[in-house]
Amino acid sequence: MLVSLDFTNRPALVLGDGAAAAAKARLLTEAGAHVTVVAESPAADLIAMADAGALRLTRRAAAPCDMVGRAVVIVAVEDDAEARRLVDWARAARVWVNAVDRPALSDFSVPALVRRGPLEVGIASGGAAPALARLVRSRIEAALPERLGALTLFARRFRDAVKATVPAGRSRRLLWDRVFQGDIGERVLAGDEAGAAERMIALINRPAETEAIAGPGVVHIVGAGPGDPELLTLKAQRLLQAADVVLYDSLVDPRVLDLARRDATRIPVGKRRGAPGVGQAAIHGLMIEAASAGQRVVRLKGGDPLVFGRGGEEMAVLARAGIDVHLTPGITAALGCAASAGIPLTHRNHASAVTLMTGHVQDGDDDVDPAALAGGDRTLAVYMGRSQAPGLTRRLIDAGLTADTPVAVIENGTRPDQRVHVGRLIALPALAARTGAGPSLIVIGDVVRLAPAWRARTPDVSHAPPTRSIARI
Ligand SMILES: C[S@@+](CC[C@H](N)C(=O)[O-])C[C@H]1O[C@@H](n2cnc3c(N)ncnc32)[C@H](O)[C@@H]1O
Repeated sequence: MLVSLDFTNRPALVLGDGAAAAAKARLLTEAGAHVTVVAESPAADLIAMADAGALRLTRRAAAPCDMVGRAVVIVAVEDDAEARRLVDWARAARVWVNAVDRPALSDFSVPALVRRGPLEVGIASGGAAPALARLVRSRIEAALPERLGALTLFARRFRDAVKATVPAGRSRRLLWDRVFQGDIGERVLAGDEAGAAERMIALINRPAETEAIAGPGVVHIVGAGPGDPELLTLKAQRLLQAADVVLYDSLVDPRVLDLARRDATRIPVGKRRGAPGVGQAAIHGLMIEAASAGQRVVRLKGGDPLVFGRGGEEMAVLARAGIDVHLTPGITAALGCAASAGIPLTHRNHASAVTLMTGHVQDGDDDVDPAALAGGDRTLAVYMGRSQAPGLTRRLIDAGLTADTPVAVIENGTRPDQRVHVGRLIALPALAARTGAGPSLIVIGDVVRLAPAWRARTPDVSHAPPTRSIARI
């Protein structure tokens, strides 16, 4: 059973000289205990804490009388027999004792802790697997926003006012849910405490009706990355988990969508091959309608919303409609696919510039000249280029790019079914024709030579091929 004890002003005893004793002494002083350390030859850490007045240090061997009157005793010594003797003394004095790394000798264990200000998360394995508990801690550490402590303090600041104005039970629970998962919590996490406080006061001053505390709606335009859910940002994950409504494109990986709350409304709005999507105007309408009804909307887009994603357009429409709109970036396909295929988009010896370009450029369309963007020490990453591959190849070769230039077509980049097709520019149409219905990204330039897939096609280089599937011409 995991319990949280209040050690404020309680007498605690730590027995031991070294790093483990110092760590436990620090934990107890941070918890507000009056800590005494008994150690024959204390480590520098312990001496420094004693010099700073954080604890009392007694330099001698421990004795049974040291245990008397303590709230807790921590035994942090190397020797097993000595540890057992000290534990016996503590128990004889009826004091709870923990022997570091010796669960069988301990009355209680000290969980691994994740702290955000006054908010603490404890992870315990009952001494069975402390290393696993530490691993779980590092995952929780990464998942909890840094400013969660600030949000906890913010809530404490308004706790009494909420108690005085909002009836206990459902209304109050709903209010705090809205605070933590809505605009107010978001502002505190973003560092805008003044703005959050202003809204919180307005919220408290309104009658505690459900509608009144629903707060204004908001739209977050969020990048879902190229597929692998682990490439999501922590912020994207948090926003998804708080969303009431998720509007998502067809490129969004279902594993990313699974991270949304189970009761969130999911609306597919993307175009699929051979089937028209709901249309951009309808998407705008859906977002405006949901946010105007006080809902937290996540508009989830593949890759980054601002790279060939119409995120800028949607943001402008929402802002014009008076909707609170925010952007969260994602890993764009070029970055995700290149990393996953082992292609450095720039490299000291191969490329000093990289261009992201759409393949939706028709022959005779002079707005964008791919030939001006590729070749030499430049890398060209082409989105939506599969069906345009023959025209693109012709234009690049006509403009003087050598037919030998290395190219890669990365299909379903970062996903379990990723395939990397590599070859020469002259073969690009054939490479593109090999891809299936999933998204594909074309990379053109000398850097493709550095990909494991390219090395694997060259018989005189002995690098092992990557584990994912490789196709080559
Ligand atoms: C409409 S664009 C959207 C791009 C997106 N906003 C981004 O930043 O990645 C769609 C194109 O991105 C590329 N793409 C997106 N995800 C991909 C993936 N996982 N693998 C390969 N290409 C991808 C393909 O070229 C696809 O046709």
